[in-house]
Amino acid sequence: MTQKIIIDTDPGVDDAFAILLAFKSPEVNVLGLTTVFGNVALDTTSLNGLILADMAPYKVPVFKGESQPMEFSTDSYAEFVHGDDGFGNINWPASNSKLEDQHAVDWMIETIKANPNEVTLVALGPLTNLGRLVERAPEVIPLVKEVVIMGGTVHCTGNVSPVAEANIHNDPHAAELVFAASWNVVMLGLDVTSQMILTPEMTARIGANGSKQGELLAKASKFYIDFYYDSIGIRGCYLHDPSTIVYLTHPELFKTETGSIISITEGFAIGQTTFSPEGRKFKMLDWEGRSQHKVCMQVEGEKVLQLVEERLSTYA
Ligand code: BDR
Ligand code: CA
Repeated sequence: MTQKIIIDTDPGVDDAFAILLAFKSPEVNVLGLTTVFGNVALDTTSLNGLILADMAPYKVPVFKGESQPMEFSTDSYAEFVHGDDGFGNINWPASNSKLEDQHAVDWMIETIKANPNEVTLVALGPLTNLGRLVERAPEVIPLVKEVVIMGGTVHCTGNVSPVAEANIHNDPHAAELVFAASWNVVMLGLDVTSQMILTPEMTARIGANGSKQGELLAKASKFYIDFYYDSIGIRGCYLHDPSTIVYLTHPELFKTETGSIISITEGFAIGQTTFSPEGRKFKMLDWEGRSQHKVCMQVEGEKVLQLVEERLSTYA
């Protein structure tokens, strides 16, 4: 059965790969995109959401969400990773489509209530919209089928600090609300995404079929891939956000561990996701009695990369 998903996103180069992959995955039906600040400011992520939604084979509405983290404000984004336009400075034409009037969080709440136990939330950016949802409408928490998050890291070095991954670090308080809530969370973080490198050859092949989707991805990924080369010396980019979609369509390619997660909200380790495996007893009791979630720890990376390339190459 097709899974109903809402993609909460901060496009973002790898968000674009994930969203266009979802549109080409028959296992999922994208009910809408909800936008959040993150890689660039909210106005830009929202306009980019419209550009991507225009490329869907069916109608996908776009709802604007939160522009600031829950407990502090920021004007610092990741333009050095994703370009000023969030798509690698490619001057892509703006969409003529319009954002929906309703706020992203209100629409999520309404949609979950209308589809009890059927909607999966796929979070590709800071968890602010989801944090607001937990705060404003706790009654919908048990009605959500699953929350699949690209973010965090357990055993891997972080990407904004030695211990923190960007999406969690951008709003650690929202992340903590999400991890503390009693719904089914799957955290898919750097432990698996940094095991998969999308190479320039793959993105060139995705762009070679002449589709506008392929053209956007091939062009946008150049800046992103250059960033990876300059910052950590790899040839290609990590497959962060698209991994969530593959997890939904091909979960057998991932191995998960169960346990509780705390997002650290202050100090040197702010934004760290600390994981306590199920059944393990510690003297410190802070992790006891919390919701048990899944964390992806292993992935069949070659198969995932192959699938992503194959599906993104089928745009005509
Ligand atoms: C995450 O941070 C953002 O830059 C990417 O879009 C991805 O969601 C990776 O840490
Ligand atoms: Ca993202």
